[in-house]
Amino acid sequence: MSIRFDGRVAIVTGAGAGLGRSHALGLAARGAKVVINDLGASTQGEGQSSDAASAVVDEIRAAGGEAIAHGTDVADEAGVRDMVDQAMKAWGRIDILVNNAGILRDKTFSKMTLEDFRKVVDVHLMGSTTCTHAVWPILREQKYGRIVLTSSASGLYGNFGQSNYGAAKAAMLGLMNVLHMEGARDDIRVNMLAPTAATRMTESLMPPEALELLRPEAITPGLLYLVSDDAPSRTILGAGAGCYALTRVYETEGVLLEGDANTPEGVAAQFDAIADPSGQKELTDAFQQTRKYARKAADARGLNLPWGD
Ligand code: NAI
Repeated sequence: MSIRFDGRVAIVTGAGAGLGRSHALGLAARGAKVVINDLGASTQGEGQSSDAASAVVDEIRAAGGEAIAHGTDVADEAGVRDMVDQAMKAWGRIDILVNNAGILRDKTFSKMTLEDFRKVVDVHLMGSTTCTHAVWPILREQKYGRIVLTSSASGLYGNFGQSNYGAAKAAMLGLMNVLHMEGARDDIRVNMLAPTAATRMTESLMPPEALELLRPEAITPGLLYLVSDDAPSRTILGAGAGCYALTRVYETEGVLLEGDANTPEGVAAQFDAIADPSGQKELTDAFQQTRKYARKAADARGLNLPWGD
């Protein structure tokens, strides 16, 4: 069955270039009305221009689609509110939010200023949060919403020189997990995309042979699935060059260290057993961990804990 977005309204942040542009064109080509948000900033987050966003709007309109441009900084609360108001005025609903806008300020941690750390956290984490917060009441009221948070392998696995970016991108996981839970009863589904693509952000880091394979357009089908009617929720979809994979967080079964064994030396002695991956599980809420630990301790003492799994 083909995936369509007719009647749906989407906001794509940072849609003037790179991945955001590709996502916006993909949504519009399948029937969505799209807000093209872009501050028109440099890769380091400096400057401002409406040219890139307007060009994408023109492209969508020329193909017979509907789009409007909005140049707010995603971390500017008043600007984001205005963007959401404009979308509601134009089309009366918002169904999809693709949080994609981003910048880099790479430096090793010893050379990183706190200003550069804060700026990157502000655009990625607070920008995604500000946009999501602005559409959240509308999605709840409609009892429908699809949100994507753009993460990165840098946040999930680490990348030298990107402590600010890695921290901000890993923070998407915490935001997604909780929004997934709080949005579920209103059919709001929240996912993460971890892309890898040749854009102005990364092209200088890649050999020319890789650039064509890693086109942004090779990622957009995965993004479109994540915001479709039948989207999953709470997944981390890695995407690049047409390859897709899921990242999951597992906890090992663990070891109970009782009484005199619960010492730093006891932890050291048992560390291989604590790290043993056999029996590891994906936990789906914070209290599963609490219950698991309390149950192990209670079982060892022959106590009956009135707590489910
Ligand atoms: P890009 O630099 O080509 O596009 C980013 C767009 O965001 C630009 O048009 C820029 O003007 C806009 N922008 C920057 N700050 C903004 C702000 N405060 N408010 C509104 N718009 C703003 O970058 P690319 O590669 O397309 O990246 C898109 C997203 O994907 C980013 O979140 C990036 O961190 C993420 N990503 C990209 C990877 C890649 O391999 N290209 C890898 C992993 C993640």
